[in-house]
Amino acid sequence: MARVLPDKKKLQNYLRGAAEEAEPAPPRCRHFGECGGCEFQDRSYAAQLDLKRRALAFVAETILSEIESAGGGTERQNAERLADALASVDPEMIPSPSPFGYRQRMDYVYAFGKAGLRRAQRRWQVTALRECPLLGDAGFAVFQAALELAGRRRIPGYDYMRHEGELRYFVVRRSRAGGIMLSLVTKTLDRRGDVLAILSELLDRGMIVSGHWLHAPGLGDVSFGARVEHVGEPLIYENMNDVRLGIGPNSFFQANPAVAEMAYAKMAEFARSGGEALDMYSGVGSIALTVSRNGVSALAVENQPENLAIAGENIRINSAANVELIAADAVEFLLERAERGGKAPGTIIVNPPRPGVTEKGMEAIRRIGQERLAYLSCNPFTLLRDMAKILDAYSLRSLALYDMFPQTRHFETLALFSRR
Ligand SMILES: C[S@@+](CC[C@H](N)C(=O)[O-])C[C@H]1O[C@@H](n2cnc3c(N)ncnc32)[C@H](O)[C@@H]1O
Repeated sequence: MARVLPDKKKLQNYLRGAAEEAEPAPPRCRHFGECGGCEFQDRSYAAQLDLKRRALAFVAETILSEIESAGGGTERQNAERLADALASVDPEMIPSPSPFGYRQRMDYVYAFGKAGLRRAQRRWQVTALRECPLLGDAGFAVFQAALELAGRRRIPGYDYMRHEGELRYFVVRRSRAGGIMLSLVTKTLDRRGDVLAILSELLDRGMIVSGHWLHAPGLGDVSFGARVEHVGEPLIYENMNDVRLGIGPNSFFQANPAVAEMAYAKMAEFARSGGEALDMYSGVGSIALTVSRNGVSALAVENQPENLAIAGENIRINSAANVELIAADAVEFLLERAERGGKAPGTIIVNPPRPGVTEKGMEAIRRIGQERLAYLSCNPFTLLRDMAKILDAYSLRSLALYDMFPQTRHFETLALFSRR
């Protein structure tokens, strides 16, 4: 039997082949080729955007043949509707204003005496980094200084193959306004004095405004953890579309704020036509707060406790009396709304993690039947699969590819729908 490749692998293989033909450009970073952080640095930015446009078309072809081969009458109809919808729009390409230095966050792993990123093609190995043009100089300097201090204090990295050692990750987050947060993620609680001394030293030097110690005792390779202690400010702040957003050490926050801001503004404009907005999978409340700036009331639904706490704080600091926060599983919430019945005016906005909204959630959205639906996705496979489920009830109005991740194969897609 032929082996079925996972979606990620199919797209990776397709793009590898397509990239060979794409316009070359000199790579900017000395680690390009070995480091797994960037794949397309040796291609011009225009060529990278074209690769992503083709990636979306490749995903569409893959999903269409997957749905058709599922066989039944409903699947065939879904596939036809999806093909028609995709043929009816020309995806808009939204480039990143900066193809380098755009990242809000980098997670540098520390293992086998090396600190940096996983190697390309050899994900179990680490490339020790001396530069990283994705993050920007001030953030990278924090990582280098923290590594040097950890070395002086003889805190070992964490060998994730043998599960031995201590310091797993240096996570650097920065806001465009200049605040930098460093989180040190450790396996145990044994090195309290050393961890806090490193964070305090960087705070005293003025290199960071916020330093967190996070505890991740499990076997999983994770760059987040339980908050143990912090020095300086508990949060850093990003301003997007006149909304002030606090970011914590475990918060979800879009990797490229300059591009995210454009996607948020587009959704806010879309939701402006009336009724309330439901911001599903709301993180720290970024979309609900942007929407509310236009006088639209919003419900923000999220299930991760730290995101919820910070979303509450973000609502408060923005004096957004028209945003209500709900701690719930997004699909459960949608199902409960669908049960209640009655078509509501307004907009549903979904921005789910990689597995998408799922069949159950999309069915609930169909049943709720709000006038508009905006779906922002980091995974075009699940976006198109989910989309195919509702095209009998909604028409696709536009599709835009937001390049939040230059130099890599990743991108975000925003699909806007209106009820038929
Ligand atoms: C892709 S992020 C989007 C966050 C936000 N819209 C933004 O732009 O920053 C997905 C969010 O969904 C949350 N999440 C994941 N599964 C969820 C679920 N079942 N119910 C509610 N929220 C969920 C995650 O904690 C995360 O904050």
